[in-house]
Amino acid sequence: MEFLISTINKLQDVFAVVGSREAEIQLPQIVIVGAQSAGKSSVIEAIVGRDFLPRGTGIVTRRPLILQLCHIAAEDEEKREGREGDWAQFEHTNAKIFEDFEGIDDKPISLRIFSDRFPNLTLVDLPGMTKIPVGDQPLDIEQQILKMIMHYINNPNSIILAVTPANQDFATSEPMKMAKEVDPEGERTLAVLTKLDLMDRGTNALDILSGQLVDVKLGIVGVVNRSQADIMAEKPMDEALQAEEAFFQKEYPNFAKTQGTRYLSVRLNVVNGIRKAAHGL
Ligand code: GDP
Ligand code: NA
Ligand code: MG
Repeated sequence: MEFLISTINKLQDVFAVVGSREAEIQLPQIVIVGAQSAGKSSVIEAIVGRDFLPRGTGIVTRRPLILQLCHIAAEDEEKREGREGDWAQFEHTNAKIFEDFEGIDDKPISLRIFSDRFPNLTLVDLPGMTKIPVGDQPLDIEQQILKMIMHYINNPNSIILAVTPANQDFATSEPMKMAKEVDPEGERTLAVLTKLDLMDRGTNALDILSGQLVDVKLGIVGVVNRSQADIMAEKPMDEALQAEEAFFQKEYPNFAKTQGTRYLSVRLNVVNGIRKAAHGL
């Protein structure tokens, strides 16, 4: 895993935003959309249950990362070929690529993770929406990113995971607006509200989580991911999940059953299953 983390970090740092080309992957895929630092990578990691994505305030996802979660039973000795636990493998790439950064084209990074802990699921982590170019980013960074996001969410087989932080205005959420453009009936949009722990004192997200403010057909799921301080302190994933559950029990007891990362995973699998069935997959 260590090698993997550093490689992804490297890849994502080196590449500028580029137009994406369709990767041949199993549909449907779950496309995660939101502003920079909204908590997209944190949500994906929490679902996968592993630390492996570049994540943090100054760190940006620069290329689409297609993550294929592949279920592999613990007792499937033939497929495991002697491997125990989880493992990961890049697709369409070979060791040479990591030495020769010049040679890479605009394909997304494709990664498969094998585990007995999750069902088959494909997640796409996209660069976050941003308004202002920083560092060596091109002036039209906003348009480039919007175009890339559109490319992925336009696909009627994609499930849109629209991520909005709870300390921002949900009613004017950009990812929700984009989702509405391509999915006006809300048949394939699931809303995620991050950073519930960072809301102003005296405010809460009851009106959002109850669907009173904005009605999202497939649901609005709140999550509390690890903070930057938690990451620095290397807070383990399972501890973070327990803290998240405790948070919802305390702050939103009436909604606790349908909130949090664990519920989000379940919900995603249900929505994924429905989409799959609808497409005869
Ligand atoms: P991305 O740019 O959308 O992929 O966002 P990241 O997942 O990289 O998160 C950005 C920053 O916000 C990181 O420092 C995270 O630790 C922090 N963060 C994400 N979700 C939460 C949350 O629910 N609560 C708190 N306190 N911090 C969060
Ligand atoms: Na980030
Ligand atoms: Mg990210």
